[in-house]
Amino acid sequence: MGCQMNALDSELVMGELSQGGYVLTDRMAAADLVIFNTCSVRQHAEDKVHSRLGQLASMRDRPAGQVVAVIGCMAERDADGLLVRGCVDILCGPNDLHRLPTLIESVRVHRQPEVALSGRMRDRSTYVAGEGMSDIESLDTHRRLGPAGHVPVPRVFGERQAYVRITRGCNKFCTFCVVPLTRGPEVHRPPDRIVEEVRKLVDHGVVEVTLLGQTVNHYRFQGDDGRPPTSFADLLRRVHDEVPDLPRLRFVTSYPRDFTDETLDVMAASPRICRYLHLPAQSGSNAVLKRMNRGYTVEQYRDLLDRARSRLPDVALAGDMIVGFSGETEEDFEQSLELLRYARYKNCFIFKYSPRPGTYADGRLPDDVPESVKRSRNQAMLAVQAEINLANHRSLLGRTLEVLVEGYSKAALKAQESEQSRGEEVDRSAARGGQLVGRTPGDQIVVFHGKPDMIGRLLTVRVTGATPYTLHGVVQDGPSGR
Ligand code: SAH
Ligand code: F3S
Repeated sequence: MGCQMNALDSELVMGELSQGGYVLTDRMAAADLVIFNTCSVRQHAEDKVHSRLGQLASMRDRPAGQVVAVIGCMAERDADGLLVRGCVDILCGPNDLHRLPTLIESVRVHRQPEVALSGRMRDRSTYVAGEGMSDIESLDTHRRLGPAGHVPVPRVFGERQAYVRITRGCNKFCTFCVVPLTRGPEVHRPPDRIVEEVRKLVDHGVVEVTLLGQTVNHYRFQGDDGRPPTSFADLLRRVHDEVPDLPRLRFVTSYPRDFTDETLDVMAASPRICRYLHLPAQSGSNAVLKRMNRGYTVEQYRDLLDRARSRLPDVALAGDMIVGFSGETEEDFEQSLELLRYARYKNCFIFKYSPRPGTYADGRLPDDVPESVKRSRNQAMLAVQAEINLANHRSLLGRTLEVLVEGYSKAALKAQESEQSRGEEVDRSAARGGQLVGRTPGDQIVVFHGKPDMIGRLLTVRVTGATPYTLHGVVQDGPSGR
């Protein structure tokens, strides 16, 4: 569950465990080991984990020695709440995942719960930069690539796409956000290791790499070898230039403050860096931004959008917005809508404020916008964004775009499943109808007819149809062979 960082953690954990002989099963009740990789960013994400644990506990045919592990942010945030459930054997935080195989072995032998929560921090004053982070680095450096013996390590994100972590944790302490408390302080990985990891992934057939950090543009590495520090712009340039066979390089999530012109210039000069920026604004009201401790004003945010658009005219911008944060008035909300219209995001994730225990806001800023108002503001904002999406998509009609083919479209897969559930004999390839889905460098989703061997390739597609959430297109050329 949760963010891209969690998807990467799941992949790395599966890689580690496959070395110990574990294989995947899709039957939870039959598994010797069940792992939930959890998210705490909103209450809804935590509720899902409780309900899955409830389901698991009520299954009658579970093997006697089944081990259940809860890993990730929720293990850190709600250790006590999870342990009282009784069916959880292991709690392991995001900064302790390298210890998971040992914890599992220990539970198997001693049948006692194991807890590894070194990142657990109750408040800001206990924050020590980089503390205890050298061991967890092994999780990323020992990443399994390709088949491990006869057991393939599934890449959660897709065969040809990979995430690479550049920074752990976050130091920003936005007042609504639990991430600094669960993932701990910001630590930057050495640039040489990052370049090496990207190179290895490309040698294993990866076509698109996404660099990950909570505030990715704040990357800054200072080694103790006397070499000058590496900024985010330097890192981007290095990855782009030193791995010339990588067709697509992206990064998320950018923090709007201190986004340098140098980074924009590197993007402009590097054709294989996607013209895509995810720049969460959170609100269009200065009063709300201040209460959120975001560290910038709406004017500064708009200035960044202007700078990005002037240097990268075809840039696709994505955003995050929170509605119903403490004290948000109708006027504040109107200002957020105004910012949405100004930004013309190609995509904006919109969230209702969900108070998180342990955050600054939870104790001190009342959750005073009624749920019904949050809901109606959420819907109103979604409607405005849907109009913007449609207009953006219509402006692409007739254009030819490069698409990385990710697989069968969900609609096509659903159709196939329902055919099968009706028990009808179907020709699989025909049922899939050749409906494929891919993404442009600007992260637009395109659906088109194609052949299975196109999956994982870069194709040129002409846009023939537009809806708020997808583009429809026609393939212009065959697989490019990359
Ligand atoms: N920098 C991180 C942010 C993690 S949280 C990143 O990688 O994207 C992702 C988004 O969830 C935030 O940008 C914010 O819009 C939303 N969010 C975080 N805490 C929230 C809360 N308490 N209630 C509602 N939305 C929240
Ligand atoms: Fe959360 Fe703000 Fe960091 S949203 S992840 S505290 S930048």
